[in-house]
Amino acid sequence: MSSIAKNPNLTHIMITRPFTKSGFMDSVSKTTACSALLEHSKQFKQTRFRLSELFIDASECRFDAFSLRHENLLLDFSKNYLTDQTVKLLVDLAIESDLSAAIEAMFTGAKINTSEQSAALHVALREPSASSQYTEVADTLSKMEELIENVHTGNWLGYTGKKITDVINIGIGGSDLGPALLQDALTDFATGDVEVHFVSNMDPSHLASTLNQLQPETSLFVIASKSFTTLETQQNAAAARRWLLQQAQDETAIGQHFVAVSANLEAAIAFGIDEEHVFSIPDWVGGRYSLWSAIGLPFALSVGMQNFRQLLAGAHSMDQHFRHTEFTENLPVVMALLSVWYTGFFDCHSSAVVPYSQRLSLLPAYLQQLYMESLGKSVDLEGNRVSSNTGEVLWGTAGSNGQHSYFQLLHQGTEFVPVDFIAVANPSVAGRHEQHSHLLANCFSQSLALMEGNADEQEPHKNIPGNKPSNTLLLSTLDPYNLGSLIALYEHKVYVQSVLWKINAFDQWGVELGKKLSKQVFNALLDANGANELDDSTANLIKLVHKWKTYS
Ligand code: F6P
Repeated sequence: MSSIAKNPNLTHIMITRPFTKSGFMDSVSKTTACSALLEHSKQFKQTRFRLSELFIDASECRFDAFSLRHENLLLDFSKNYLTDQTVKLLVDLAIESDLSAAIEAMFTGAKINTSEQSAALHVALREPSASSQYTEVADTLSKMEELIENVHTGNWLGYTGKKITDVINIGIGGSDLGPALLQDALTDFATGDVEVHFVSNMDPSHLASTLNQLQPETSLFVIASKSFTTLETQQNAAAARRWLLQQAQDETAIGQHFVAVSANLEAAIAFGIDEEHVFSIPDWVGGRYSLWSAIGLPFALSVGMQNFRQLLAGAHSMDQHFRHTEFTENLPVVMALLSVWYTGFFDCHSSAVVPYSQRLSLLPAYLQQLYMESLGKSVDLEGNRVSSNTGEVLWGTAGSNGQHSYFQLLHQGTEFVPVDFIAVANPSVAGRHEQHSHLLANCFSQSLALMEGNADEQEPHKNIPGNKPSNTLLLSTLDPYNLGSLIALYEHKVYVQSVLWKINAFDQWGVELGKKLSKQVFNALLDANGANELDDSTANLIKLVHKWKTYS
């Protein structure tokens, strides 16, 4: 592997962002690994450092040294601020943070969600059923299989005796983003028995525009809500029930048109759903880690149980890799260490995920919840304010579309934004190889352009500084197994970061306040007098709504 110390000829162009502060600064005195990393990071910040020079200088193939493969998934992390020494120091940090013990704690069901005294055992959901110690998991999978079989074969009929043609998932956050991503990404695997729709937004137009195309007698609603108290889901579920009853005129029809996925059995039954049609979610599964549970039901209804099990198998394989592979060869660990490196030592405040695959266009939205709800924390496990930056803003869209909007900022802006490029070797659409090759060429050339830049001293506006780091994840094909593996990779990456930062990746107390306040604001929207108890800004917004509204 190469070393930056061996590069006397490093050329001149400055890294665009002045690295004025380091998130880990405050904790330097506390940990040896941090102070060594801080010292080491200075070598990359000196003006003559060129990322591309690391390739020229390398005594062995840099790609071989800085790429990892797990089955059909390759991580090329060679285009990063990284040498052998960097890897060593980052691994020292992981060892110092007792990462091995933390990984074991997760897999063995320790209560790592300390603020809620709960395990985070989503890995148990993808244990092959034969070896699963959790009979609840195997039972739920069998129950899902039975429902899918009944719906597909027409054993399950609507209230007028017609076969179900459409499934509408009503849920939000983790009860929507995961299955919606799977459904969209793996649409080529759909059996064609039912069409699946997703409704999440409280904006009534989301449900209305979905139901406009559907018939109540052939529609099956999946009310997906771990808590069964989430306002958006409650509102949409109630509206869907009214829509059904308007035509059916008989409450008993609810049983044939609604199932629930929830940990709150009583509330689902109170809604009118038959007890045997409530699919449970174990307490030890967090919302954003739940797509492997019955929350995946709408996707499984679309592609069949065999494909759903393939998804679980791919994730399980990544679990085994994560649990049993040494840190230097471990994909999630390496990706997490890189994030910690940039966040803590290069003042990185945002990173982008850009899948060059239209089928993966919902992945950034899914990862935003996984990443930012998990890592958006500023107190540690002991309740002390953290001494380092934690999760950066994660964003992105499908490529190549992004090239025609925000890539300009990546190339010439002042922000430091490491990128994860994701590409798939084989096209999703047969017979379009040339177009697919253009897509891959654009993906690979963007990471190259970010790294190399293009010096132009005559016309500064044409100077592209380069030196921008990125990862490339390459999948052989987009199928359930590989997608399961990819999602599990990001889940474990997030967990490793939380361990290094000593924060809880499994709670989300910050989102509760807004939910509470919305009740007070809602009352003021019903009765303008209530607005006076609110702050001036909110009160005046409400008053203007009262003035402008054309409904009563
Ligand atoms: O508001 C945040 C959140 O609690 C997420 O963590 C969760 O995925 C989402 O709401 C939906 O929650 P539920 O499945 O309980 O409706």
